Amino acid sequence: MESFEFFNPVRVIFGAGKSAVIGQEAAKLGKRVLLVSYLDQSFFSELLLKIVEQLKKEQLEVVTHYAITANPMMSQVRKGVELCRENHIDLIIAVGGGSVMDASKIIAAGVPYPHDLWKMIKSRHDVEVAIPPTEALPLLMVPTLPATSSEMNCGAVVTNDETVEKSYVFHECIFPKLSIIDPELTCGLPKFQTACGAVDAISHVIESYFNCVDDTPLQDRLQEGVILTIMELVEKILIDPANVSLRANIQWASVLAWNGWIQAGVNPGSPMHQMGHVISARFGVTHGATLGMIMPAWMRYIYRQRLDRYVQFAQRIFGINPNGRNPEEVALEGIDAFEEFIKRVGVPTRMSQAGVSAHDIDAMVEEVARISFNADQTLASRPPVGREGVKAVYMGAL
Ligand SMILES: [Fe+2]
Repeated sequence: MESFEFFNPVRVIFGAGKSAVIGQEAAKLGKRVLLVSYLDQSFFSELLLKIVEQLKKEQLEVVTHYAITANPMMSQVRKGVELCRENHIDLIIAVGGGSVMDASKIIAAGVPYPHDLWKMIKSRHDVEVAIPPTEALPLLMVPTLPATSSEMNCGAVVTNDETVEKSYVFHECIFPKLSIIDPELTCGLPKFQTACGAVDAISHVIESYFNCVDDTPLQDRLQEGVILTIMELVEKILIDPANVSLRANIQWASVLAWNGWIQAGVNPGSPMHQMGHVISARFGVTHGATLGMIMPAWMRYIYRQRLDRYVQFAQRIFGINPNGRNPEEVALEGIDAFEEFIKRVGVPTRMSQAGVSAHDIDAMVEEVARISFNADQTLASRPPVGREGVKAVYMGAL
């Protein structure tokens, strides 16, 4: 295990019906609210009307910014920053999934940011030096999709409209002040979004589980617990979608998947996400679905180099008995079982299902290299993977 510093200041109010306190809690944080949500209002109009009513009852001024799409774009963020500056907004409330929460975080940090907003996004990867944000407006999150854990971490992902680059920023100033997590809000989610959210949440743990340092037995078991819980619950939810107890448990598991707790001391990379971001940016594929495509291919490419860990995964997640068997066979059986699970919940596992062909691969590899490679021309993974490896994974995911 590596040395680490753990910090997570997010106050969480969790439980069925807790969205009833949004108004009174918001009144403790600000007076002039930017209420951020999706451009497509088909699932949210009633909820948003109720929230506006609660806010007005508390004498709060409300400006709406219902403009966010899946895979949010910088233009949507820029417009949000303009609205905040024009209206002297002092609190941002995000109602939606990871896209809305991430866009809201960048808006919050963008309001006092003196440079072009993209300067803060190019953090970590690019040859250009990023200028991190230093402060942000307070954020209140109301997540409606269990998936990203954006409600309890300090990361945000966005796509540049002009360059079609999808990249991210991490900074303590964009931790939400408060997240009101009400599983009742997720009971009406369509099956595909539910399943993609579950696969995304599992992928956050999988990144950590397979790109970790060695000697993390507690974190391994915490991660296995989160993976098993989400796998078990999502299949039940697809049969019984309005079951608020199932929805509550999967939502909390999804928060723990990436709020930093199970990653403490593990120091993971996120190579599968970096490769998935290029599929989203180029082909508009839902984030969770890109992980459904990349994870099995990544695992099949790398398993021989971390064989013990892949055997452990097969044994502990799928109950495959390794005794007296060739470890490579056991590892592959675990990966096959994992891909079968992803398919069973209705998430694609092949890029060709999204129209990606072999002709696209070289350009995609270059995009990963340009946006996500470290100075040594590899992805932050264990073991590190260069262009050849990225290409092999993409080919394996076709
Ligand atoms: Fe993700």
